[in-house]
Amino acid sequence: MADRPTARSHQLLFLFTPLRLRKIPLPEGSNQIPIPRSETPALAGWPSRDYRRPVSALDPYQIRSDFPILNQEINGKPLVYLDNAATSQTPLCVLDSSRNYYEKINSNIHRGVHRLSQAATAAHEAARETIAKHLNASRPEEIIFTSGTTDSVNLVASALGRSDLLKSRDEIIISGLEHHSNTVPWQMLCERLGITLKIIPVLDDGTLDLEAYDKLLSEKTKLVSVNHVSNAFGTVNNVVHICSQAKKFGALTFIDGAQSIPHFSIDLQSFGCDFYAFSGHKVYGPTGIGILFGKHDLLCELPPSRGGGEMIKEVTFEKTTYNDPPFKFEAGTPNIDGGIALAAAFDYVNNLGITNIADHETLLIRRAAKILEDLDGITLYGPDDRAGALSFNFEGIHHYDLGTLLDQMGFALRTGHHCCQPLMARFGMTGTLRASFAAYNTLEEVESLGKSLEKALMMLR
Ligand code: ALA
Repeated sequence: MADRPTARSHQLLFLFTPLRLRKIPLPEGSNQIPIPRSETPALAGWPSRDYRRPVSALDPYQIRSDFPILNQEINGKPLVYLDNAATSQTPLCVLDSSRNYYEKINSNIHRGVHRLSQAATAAHEAARETIAKHLNASRPEEIIFTSGTTDSVNLVASALGRSDLLKSRDEIIISGLEHHSNTVPWQMLCERLGITLKIIPVLDDGTLDLEAYDKLLSEKTKLVSVNHVSNAFGTVNNVVHICSQAKKFGALTFIDGAQSIPHFSIDLQSFGCDFYAFSGHKVYGPTGIGILFGKHDLLCELPPSRGGGEMIKEVTFEKTTYNDPPFKFEAGTPNIDGGIALAAAFDYVNNLGITNIADHETLLIRRAAKILEDLDGITLYGPDDRAGALSFNFEGIHHYDLGTLLDQMGFALRTGHHCCQPLMARFGMTGTLRASFAAYNTLEEVESLGKSLEKALMMLR
C-alpha cells in the first residue's frame, strides 16, 4: 500500500493436455522472435525497432532517448525522476514488445494448434529461457511467472503452508530490513501454523547484525527470508553468507531480489538460495509481471498454491493430478505479453551491460551522498556502500513536506515508510525522503537535487 502522510504532515500540502517446456530454437543473440519471420508472416518486421544497437559506454543522455516519459516538464520544470526503487521507467523496446505482441500474435498460450497460439506460446517460453539465463538458473522450469515480488512471496508461503515441510513450533527468520511483502505473508503463515517468526536485528548503520543471525539459527529454523538489497536504505545484504549459514541447519532460503535485480549481475547458482523473487517494473519491464525462481527438486516437492487451468495433468471429479513445474504454479492465463516484454527488458539491460549500469549508479549515489551530507541538519540512513537508494531526513522537517516542495520543483522522490514500518520504528521515525537511481539518471540531476534541496530547506525553515 502507498505510504500516506502522517499526522505531523500537511504543512504543505492451454486444452487439458499436460504442459511440457519445449526447446525453441532461437536466432543467434535473440530471445524475442522464436519463430523465423519467413515462416511466420504475422511476425514480419517484429521487432520494428532495432533495440540491440551497440552502446559502447554507458551514456545516460543517449539512454534517455529510449525513455520518452523522461522528456517532460512538471510544474514548468524538467522532470527529474528519482523514484526508480518504486518503479523504473520503461524503454521503447519494451513498449514495442507489448505493442507488437497485441498487433501480431495476441492469443492464449499452451491451448491452441493455430498459428497465433503457437507463436505466442513460443515467445512466452523463449522469454522464460531468457530470464533463466539472465539469473543463471540451472533450467527454465525453475522460472515461474507471477504478478510480482509480493505474489511470489505469497505463492511460496501458501505452498509451504499446504506442504508437510512445516509444523507447529518451527521457526522462520526474516530481517528487520524487510519490506512488508517479505514480512506479512510469513506472519500470516506463522499465525496459521503456530510457527515463531524471528527477526535479524538491524545495526545503527542500517546493516544486519549477522552475529545475532548466527545465534538465531537452530534446528527449529525451517526458512530464512531476507532481501538482497533494502528498498528503504539501499543496504546490500551478504546473501551468500546468509544462505550458507541457513543450510547448515537444513533451512530453506528465500531472497527478495526486488531491489537487486536492477543493479546486480544475479548468479542464483552461486547464491545457493532455494527461492529468489523480483518484479518486472523495477528492472525497466512492465508492471503486473514478476518472477519466482525455485530450485527444481523443491518445486517438484511443493504442492500448488492455486488451482485452475494450466496447472493440472488430469482432472476428474474424484481426483486431480498436477502438472510439472513451472506450470503447476501458473494456474490460469498468465500475463503473456508481460513475460515477453520482461525478457525484452533484460535484452535491454544486457545490451547496456549490468556492470556498466551498476558503475554508473554507484557514481550517482556516491555523489548524491557527498552533496547531501553537507546540508544542515541532514541524517543519511544506511551504509556508505549502499546500492540504488539513498534515504535521508532533515532535523525538524517532515519528509512529506520536503517531498511535496521538491515535486513543485520537478523532482520525483518517494516519501514515507517505504512499506518498512518496523524498520522506521527501529530508527524512531515515521519515514524518510528517498532518492533512487537508474541508468538514465545524470550527475547533472544529482547536482540539481542538491541545489533544490537547499532552496526547499530555506523555504521550510
Ligand atoms: N517497494 C517499492 C518501494 O520501495 C514500492 O518504493
